[in-house]
Amino acid sequence: MDDVIAACQAALSRKGQVVVLTGAGVSAESGIPTFRGKEGYWTIGAREYHPQELATWEAFERMPWDVWAWYLYRRGVCRAAQPNAAHDAIALLDRKLEGRFALITQNVDGLHRRAGSPIARTFPIHGDIDYMRCANDCVLDRWPIPEAIPALARGEAAGEAHRALLRCPRCGGMARPHVLWFDESYDEPRFFLDTARRIASASALLVVIGTSAQTNLPWQVVTLAARAGATIVDINIEPNPFGEIAETSGGAIRGTAATNLPRLVDAIIHT
Ligand code: OAD
Repeated sequence: MDDVIAACQAALSRKGQVVVLTGAGVSAESGIPTFRGKEGYWTIGAREYHPQELATWEAFERMPWDVWAWYLYRRGVCRAAQPNAAHDAIALLDRKLEGRFALITQNVDGLHRRAGSPIARTFPIHGDIDYMRCANDCVLDRWPIPEAIPALARGEAAGEAHRALLRCPRCGGMARPHVLWFDESYDEPRFFLDTARRIASASALLVVIGTSAQTNLPWQVVTLAARAGATIVDINIEPNPFGEIAETSGGAIRGTAATNLPRLVDAIIHT
């Protein structure tokens, strides 16, 4: 930890952005299952689905209400969870560094928002489970899922009254969760593709937390940051490809986010 703190302090003395990139591991200690953990499976009828099969446009087209039921269940899990010390530490870092800070998150759980990370400097590159948008893309806007829609229990379907609320307020067509699916692509208006690349290219320090490095844009972020000469740090309970990169840069911390990040942030803000 001391080596990592020293590397972060040296990075801060240079010009450039301080960027945090988070994945599901940052919310694990809030009780939200990680994406590739065992709790992710979901049963529809007699069949068990892996998230990678359900989080697709193809599944939504075939069985939209089953996919909505899965999201409304997960939305309930996220809303019942509370931000943990790692989310709080990131929000604190934002307040202290403001003009030179940005948060790029793969998490759709809204916990960074609820911990106080401001929308202006928080970029949810995989969407937000509290929001919906037009399934026909009649407009790019997204809207909060109406409060009247409850969290569903496992196996519960949305009733007719609630289905009637899951409509696009503009064209009246069906709404869909505002989440990037596996058979879809990143873009700027919905998923901050260009913004994330620009921020990474301007970074002096990149702290990666709790991701297994399985998705494309996070790889671009780490690669562009490395190319810009940024110091890269990784916090994860397991070895992972970003940790290997960090080991040749600012260092990798093998431990939980909620335990280790507050200490690192405390050292950074007192530099
Ligand atoms: P994963 O579930 O793939 O990985 C979670 C990572 O967090 C693993 O590397 C764990 O070792 C680590 N981890 C678990 N608990 C931790 C803790 N307490 N502290 C620190 N690290 C911990 O989740 P992601 O990498 O976020 O995208 O998955 C990336 C994306 O894959 C998701 O956003 C989702 C999926 O495709 C979309 O839905 C578009």
